[in-house]
Amino acid sequence: MSSVTAVTARVPAKVNLQLTVGPVRPDGYHDLVTVFHAVSLYDEVTVTPAQRDSVTVTGEGAGEVPLDGSNLALRAAAALSEAAAPGKRRARGVAIRIRKRIPVAAGLAGGSANAAAALVACNELWRIGLSQPELAEIAAGLGADVTFALIGGTAVGLGRGEQVTPALVSGSYHWVLAFADGALSTPEVYAAADRLRTARDGRGAGTGGPRKPVDAAHEPDSALLAALRAGDPAAVGRNLSNDLQPAALGLRPGLRRALAAGREFGALGAIVSGSGPTCAYLARDAHHAREIAVALTGTGVCRSVARVLGPAPGAVIVPAGQRSPSRLPGGGTN
Ligand code: C5P
Repeated sequence: MSSVTAVTARVPAKVNLQLTVGPVRPDGYHDLVTVFHAVSLYDEVTVTPAQRDSVTVTGEGAGEVPLDGSNLALRAAAALSEAAAPGKRRARGVAIRIRKRIPVAAGLAGGSANAAAALVACNELWRIGLSQPELAEIAAGLGADVTFALIGGTAVGLGRGEQVTPALVSGSYHWVLAFADGALSTPEVYAAADRLRTARDGRGAGTGGPRKPVDAAHEPDSALLAALRAGDPAAVGRNLSNDLQPAALGLRPGLRRALAAGREFGALGAIVSGSGPTCAYLARDAHHAREIAVALTGTGVCRSVARVLGPAPGAVIVPAGQRSPSRLPGGGTN
């Protein structure tokens, strides 16, 4: 049997259909109640044996991805080999090639997606054979969104977002993503949300007041979950929510126009994705998604658009020969 020389994993972007943010915790993170939803905008991560560890990035926003030890895909590979053989140095390195379609620092968890793909691909390359729950444990240590990128679909996230439980969903949902110029820093958006909370009720970050765990105060939105179970896009659209949205709009006021434009064109819901600045619009069907995408492009409220479907599967190995360099699946532009 020939040894494996290259393994490619494909991994989706996510939007948050609900993002309820509690007060900041002692570890600097915020307790969340979120409903993650993976969409068909994919990055691909290819791993090959090499003398030493390295990472290269091509595609959307490639220049903004760090290539040093802070790269999340490299950290994922290191964490996996440490988990497989604690304290033992790997005999060979790994060359990681990331082909990006998910914009960087856009509220779509692209970096977390790359880490999840690296876990899945290296698990195969090195024939470690960890199960998805075992990979999920490693993922949780890498970042709040990495666990979800592994499992994909639609899921409720608690804690920092790493405690993930799949949700029942009927049918599929047609989304338009509007990509903005430039990035938003996730920590800065959370900090801005803390300041807004402090201004609102005086119980923001570091005020020392009694800290109510968010999951004691908030549940996943039952109307949203019922709409997803029923396959009712109109009700899903009505029940989208994002506590980070006011903060993102404060930092990037132009996004208000982008959201308003989508609503004007009949979007069932229009929301900032995660910490932004990407905006996500729910359409009635494929035809309506195309109309919204064309209209948004025409109004100039965004840099570019993509039409995607959700829910999409989590990180999976792409069988050899099925990888197309020029056209990754999903995420068709208008
Ligand atoms: O875990 P990850 O590196 O993706 O998180 C990026 C940043 O987002 C964190 O450093 C933190 O500032 C913020 N964050 C948070 N609470 C969460 C998730 C993320 O404050 N539950």
